[in-house]
Amino acid sequence: METVVSGIRPTGNLHLGNYFGAMKNFVRMQDDYRCFFFIADYHSLTTHPHPKDLHTTVRQVVAEYLACGIDPEKCTLYLQSDVPETAELFLFLNMLAYVGELERSAAFKDKVRAQPDNVNAGLLTYPVLMAADIILHRANKVPVGKDQIQHLEMTRDFAQRFNHLYGVEYFPLPEAFSFSSSLVKVPGLEGSGKMGKSEGESNAVFLVDEPGIIRKKVMRAVTDSGPAEMNQQKPEVIQNLFTLMELVSSHETRKHFEDSYNTCTIRYGDLKKQLAEDMIQFTTPLRERVKRYFDDTKYLHTILSQGEEKARASASKTIREVREIIGFRKF
Ligand code: TRP
Repeated sequence: METVVSGIRPTGNLHLGNYFGAMKNFVRMQDDYRCFFFIADYHSLTTHPHPKDLHTTVRQVVAEYLACGIDPEKCTLYLQSDVPETAELFLFLNMLAYVGELERSAAFKDKVRAQPDNVNAGLLTYPVLMAADIILHRANKVPVGKDQIQHLEMTRDFAQRFNHLYGVEYFPLPEAFSFSSSLVKVPGLEGSGKMGKSEGESNAVFLVDEPGIIRKKVMRAVTDSGPAEMNQQKPEVIQNLFTLMELVSSHETRKHFEDSYNTCTIRYGDLKKQLAEDMIQFTTPLRERVKRYFDDTKYLHTILSQGEEKARASASKTIREVREIIGFRKF
């Protein structure tokens, strides 16, 4: 069975874009691969979170992943900071990473621009830590978005360099896992092509948004003055609303609004009201599950301890073998 590793940075809440774009695929992968999913809480230290906030966001992310269907019985779900072997492999890989290549990384340059007052060394070596996460379990596949492709290329470079330096074929060179056909594009509510939080709070519908918030966000969505001709093509902002309907509404509902659009009798207010209600119906069970997991400290403790144990079993095997390859041997 091939190994899949993916890390989740504990920032903000999941929205419908994350759900349909990534989560559903993670859930599906659990059955076919040896999956490691972890919360990248070491990585999050680059922005110096307050200890209390860090703990709460980690709890929130774990609760959301469980609510979406990540199953600790099928995969290994763990906290990065519970697996200190990560840090040891990170140290080894730092000897193989060149400062020049790290400085050229696009993500690093963006960070320097975004937070010029906090250009810490952890930002520079972020890709090395990410490489350690991945090859720690000798992963073959990494499900990542476009923004992480460069990091994954660097991971391959470090793994290859290790293999080459020591004359071994120890680390597989991990590839991006692409969902190709199943990739769903989830548009935002403010006319943008992609749902994301960087485009503003009301562009995205979060899984934990209360019904009132969802109604407000959807009713504010951008529309136009309506179709002027029968069967005319939909402008992007209108198509976006129909695309969202495809994700959460019934076939009959969609057909009803398609028909009224095509006959120019559509009232966007009605469409938005319906879309909001369908989103609420879709997210309500998820929101309730998130809350239940969030409050269940005992359960979180149990499954994260299990995850830690499974992850460390895999990690310590790698570290033992890597130490041997490097030449650290007992006297
Ligand atoms: N860098 C990833 C992100 O920002 C998070 C991450 C950390 C990750 N380590 C990883 C993703 C290992 C995949 C594999 O989203």
